[in-house]
Parts: sequence; structure tokens; C-alpha cells
Amino acid sequence: MKTFKIALIPGDGIGPEVVAEGVKVLRTIEQLDPSISFSFTEFPWGCEYYLKHGKMMADDGIEQLKEFDAIYLGAVGYPGVPDHISLWDLLLRIRKEFDQYVNIRPITLLNPELTPLKGKTAKEIDFLVIRENSEGEYAGAGDWLFKGKPEEVVLQTGVFSRKGTERIIRYAYEEARNSKRTLTSISKANALNYSMVFWDEVFNEVGKEYPDVKTYSYLVDAASLYFVTEPERFEVVVTSNLFGDILTDIGAAITGGMGLATGANVNPERKFPSMFEPVHGSAPDISGKGIANPIAAIWSVSQVMDFFGEEQWGEAILSTIKEILTEQPSLTSDLGGNSSTSQVGDRFVDLLSAKVSEVGVSQE
Ligand SMILES: NC(=O)c1ccc[n+]([C@@H]2O[C@H](COP(=O)([O-])OP(=O)(O)OC[C@H]3O[C@@H](n4cnc5c(N)ncnc54)[C@H](O)[C@@H]3O)[C@@H](O)[C@H]2O)c1
Repeated sequence: MKTFKIALIPGDGIGPEVVAEGVKVLRTIEQLDPSISFSFTEFPWGCEYYLKHGKMMADDGIEQLKEFDAIYLGAVGYPGVPDHISLWDLLLRIRKEFDQYVNIRPITLLNPELTPLKGKTAKEIDFLVIRENSEGEYAGAGDWLFKGKPEEVVLQTGVFSRKGTERIIRYAYEEARNSKRTLTSISKANALNYSMVFWDEVFNEVGKEYPDVKTYSYLVDAASLYFVTEPERFEVVVTSNLFGDILTDIGAAITGGMGLATGANVNPERKFPSMFEPVHGSAPDISGKGIANPIAAIWSVSQVMDFFGEEQWGEAILSTIKEILTEQPSLTSDLGGNSSTSQVGDRFVDLLSAKVSEVGVSQE
């Protein structure tokens, strides 16, 4: 029996609503597969915690999280707490302290009807964005001088270290090589004349070790255009923290919206726990209404299972997502359905259970 220890941080707004459905899926896996069990520990951290305690997480929060195999997070941020505090003091803190320097975001069209792009098929929208997740434009370096004075100046410095740039680019080359896909680097060396010139140089240098990987290099403005007009150009993409953040929202838009986008924050060396989360935020506009789409959070569970080496379950979840996406009434309103968040979760686990009892899950 394998037991995986999972830390749950449901967070704010719709975070707890969608995480509950992901946990429902994990509980179902436990029932269906006697070789797997999970232990869950829930942490109440987030904006409500901040309003009570003046901090987003416990002082020894990082220490407490260290012992887990994975962290499953909902969303963080809520009106009443400045977004830069909620983001920096919880989410970015975990990403940085645990050196989760790889952010993996699949841009995969799971149902052709969900793309707003005319005439694009599932085959044409199927790629992986690997985003640098530890430094770059989100390094938090800068200054705020002469605050409130006429000569006020703010500096936000992008930090691109050789170690940080090389390791993310190398990770992407490995991914492209192992999956026999092309690799596209997205940067902006014409305008960002230090950081992105360096990025491009490192991309070419590391590429010498991977002559079998076919590569492309685009400026981020052109890449934004191609994400919409010719997504079939992309197979594996590597890019910086900020560009990856923005581009993957375009990726979400072309594959069915925020309710379907997921992302893994990975420490590849497994020295620290990795963190899995839907890409969307806490959606205060719909929180508490029971209409949040839980599929992105359920897709995160598929990524968790892959990460645990239980790829057969990752695959079973993904194919069940494809199946539920064909049943419009079983979906939430953002996808044109009329089900509640928990009804989607209930239907999902029914479909997953039926699939597994019909074809089984291969135990490799
Ligand atoms: N990873 C994170 O925790 C994360 C990411 C982005 C934003 N945020 C925070 O979330 C808060 C709200 O930010 P925002 O409004 O810019 O982004 P958001 O992703 O919360 O919402 C954007 C839009 O998408 C919709 N949406 C998002 N998730 C959905 C889902 N699962 N089902 C159906 N509709 C969904 C929302 O209703 C909203 O209209 C802010 O405090 C922000 O800082 C957190």
C-alpha cells in the first residue's frame, strides 16, 4: 500500500469550492485502487486568516509543509487584502522557498467545441508551456523612491541568473527530447536588451547539447498572435515568469476558459514538495454561488497522480474530463451547462468509477 501525504490549502473565494471536488476524486481513487491511500492535512491559510492574524500563513508554515509529498492549492486573493500581499506572502513564498522553479501548464483542447477559434481542431491546439517560476520579472527586486513626491520613481528589476535561466531551458529541452516534440523559446530581446538577449544566448548555448531537438524562437508579441492564429506552431514552449503567466491565460482562452486551465509548480529534484493548482484565481464575482467550474482543479489531480508516478490514474482522470465535457448539462454555466460545482464533481466520480470498472486501470 502506497500512502501519499497531501497538504490542502483551499485558500479563498472559489478555492475551497473547487478543491472539495478534487478531494472527492482522490477519495474515489482510494476506493477504486486498494494499492493507494492518501492522508490529507488542511491548512486554513489565505485572506481570511490574514484578516484574523495579520499574516497569510503561519510563521513556521514552510516548515510544516516540508514533510508533504504534494501541496494541493485552490486560489488565493480576496477583496479587502491587497493582491500583492496575498500573492507574495503565500503563493509566491511557497514557490520560492520550495524552489518550484518549473511551472508546467498544458494547453490542450479537450473538446473541439470549446475553442473560440474558428476551425481549429484538438490536434492543432495541444502543447505544453514551461514557465520559469522562481525569478525573472517576479523576483521582487526593485525600489520605491521619493514616495508621494513629485520626483517619485519606482524600479521593478527583472532578475535572470545563469543558474535559473539554464535550468529551466534545460528542463524544457529534456521534455522536448523525451516527448520527441519541437521546442519554442519566447522572449523579447529587441526591447529587453539585457535580460532577454541573455535568455536567447542561453537558449542557443544549451541547445548545442540537444541537436536532435528542433527549435524556434519568437518575440512575445508575435507569439501572442500565433497562440491565437496558429496554435499548431507550438509543441513545447519555454518562457520567462511574466510572459508565461500572460501567455497561458491566452492558452486558457483558446481551450475553454479559466475553468479548464491547470498548472503544476514543480521542484524537479524533489528536494521539496511540489504544488498543484488550477490557474484561475478566487473569482470573487462568483464565489459562494456554487457555480465555479471544478474541472481545472480536477485536472490538477491528474497532474498530482502523474507526479506520484501513478500515470494510469492521471490518464484515467484526463480521459474522464474529455468524457464529461461531451455532456453539456453536466457542466457548469461557464461551459454552457446548468450543474452546480458539486454536481459536476459527483458526475465526474460516477464516470470515473464506471470507466475503471469497465476497462480497469493498468497497474504497471
Ligand atoms: N493562483 C492564484 O491563486 C491566483 C491566480 C490569479 C488571480 N488570483 C487572485 O484572485 C482574485 C481574482 O482575480 P481575477 O478576477 O483577476 O481572476 P480570476 O481567475 O479569479 O477570475 C477571472 C474571471 O474568470 C472567472 N473564473 C475564474 N475561475 C473560474 C472557474 N473555476 N469557474 C468559472 N469561472 C471562473 C471569474 O468568475 C472571473 O470572471 C485576485 O485577488 C487575484 O489576485 C489568484
